[in-house]
Amino acid sequence: MQLTVDLSGDKFLSAELKVLSAFQKTTTAKTKGAKAETSLSVDHWVDKTLKEEFQGLRSLKNFKAGKDETLTFSGAMGETVLVVGLGERGKMSAEDLRKTTAKIFKSVKGKFQTVAFDVPGFNVVRDEVLAATLMAESLHMTDYSFDTYKSKKPEAMEQTVILAHVEKKNSAKLEKALTSVRNITQSINIVKDFINEAPNVLHSEEYARRIEADVKKNLKSVKMKILNKAQIQKERMNLFLSVNTGSAYEPRLVHLTYEPARMTSKTKHIALVGKGITFDTGGYCIKPGTSMAGMKYDMGGSATVYGAFRAAVLEKAPVKITCILAITDNAINSLATFPDAIITARNGKTVEVLNTDAEGRLILADALDYACDLNPHCIVDAATLTGACLVALGNQVCAILGNDQKWITEVLGSAKAQDEYMWQLPIIHEWRQDIKSKTADLRNIGTPMRAGTAIGAAFLEEFIKNDVKWAHLDVAGVVDSQSHLPYCSASGASGLMVRTLTHLLMNAK
Ligand code: BES
Ligand code: ZN
Ligand code: ZN
Repeated sequence: MQLTVDLSGDKFLSAELKVLSAFQKTTTAKTKGAKAETSLSVDHWVDKTLKEEFQGLRSLKNFKAGKDETLTFSGAMGETVLVVGLGERGKMSAEDLRKTTAKIFKSVKGKFQTVAFDVPGFNVVRDEVLAATLMAESLHMTDYSFDTYKSKKPEAMEQTVILAHVEKKNSAKLEKALTSVRNITQSINIVKDFINEAPNVLHSEEYARRIEADVKKNLKSVKMKILNKAQIQKERMNLFLSVNTGSAYEPRLVHLTYEPARMTSKTKHIALVGKGITFDTGGYCIKPGTSMAGMKYDMGGSATVYGAFRAAVLEKAPVKITCILAITDNAINSLATFPDAIITARNGKTVEVLNTDAEGRLILADALDYACDLNPHCIVDAATLTGACLVALGNQVCAILGNDQKWITEVLGSAKAQDEYMWQLPIIHEWRQDIKSKTADLRNIGTPMRAGTAIGAAFLEEFIKNDVKWAHLDVAGVVDSQSHLPYCSASGASGLMVRTLTHLLMNAK
């Protein structure tokens, strides 16, 4: 899909499909006993001829302009006109606009070569630039599909979408906003490609190679180090290595650094850390088949933080950003870690591995310790850490936990600004006690079926040092299958939380 802006209205005139909005108008009863009447308004249409055609339609009597109600007719110029009801004025939110745009685009995708939206009619938010930006964001996200492995590809029609009738005075501002939208949504779609890729193809070594290639091509100013097994051994990241012992592939630790052009002593340094389990069999504590399917998504946390890093670099974020990705699969062979194994972590703490399926916290523990040594002010990690997160918050809400309320509140603020669902869970003293081991310093699980998401976070907290402010996102639920969000695929990677984290990096205080 190509997206263009049309100020003059010329492109709108010649478009194969014109998309316009209609609002519902309810007039209160004038006399006692009389009924309130609903009518609809298209006063905002610029094209008078089109308005007359519309008002002369016989089918109009059944169209009430309720939210997402549609009416289609053929215009006098041979074009198709799609009128979309937006309900009553003032009732739609920014997120509603994203959703409505996505629904419209899905219904016309591949059917018309040129699709023109009458933007002023969709300006249900603060201003026209924001409305067009939200629409563009939704269009780029909705346009995504993963069809690498379909031998018969769905017919590819190069569609042009036109954001029409934008006021001239807004054009410079809008062009700038659209460049940002492109940077962010392109990063989101790359994240989805990584997450959707099959685990036999995207094993640890290949995943690191693909990130390396993307950084070299698109993030030229970024410093990159990719640690192989020998280098990870040198770092004494034994918890991370213990997860990899059953694997046919080497682990990889991706370490990326971005510095803004103007670095001062006041420049904030934020580290992003991601769980990159390219497939989670559970190890010797093997998952039952039905729970194992879908475990290619277990690298979703690492892809999410990489996507936010990528977008923030392209957007020239004002902060220094370090991005650490711990990558391996959790597989089984004769060398795989046994339950009951005791391993010494990079920070010196000993960990009794009572469940090899609680592997995410093991690789993250060493990665967080490594990140803390770089002395960032704040860390955010993202991980598909616990099935318990789905029990607590469903697959729609991302969990956040951490050691600093101000930092957590800042991340929550970014989620709210981007309309992504995020909810804080506590870490309490008793749960910190629950991960103490009888024979070692720590054990990698708590009481079964109790506060699993927070127990996972309490474990990670043991590896934060140097007073670093830390927030942990459990993205187990939100990383895939968002059937309630029309701009995400109903199944497969969602790309959620990239917008939140990018917003956080761009607006860090
Ligand atoms: N990758 C899983 C968590 C997960 C489950 C993500 C379902 C997405 C959907 C994680 O490694 C895991 O297996 N966690 C265990 C922890 C338990 C053994 C303490 C879990 O949640 O069952
Ligand atoms: Zn697991
Ligand atoms: Zn896992």
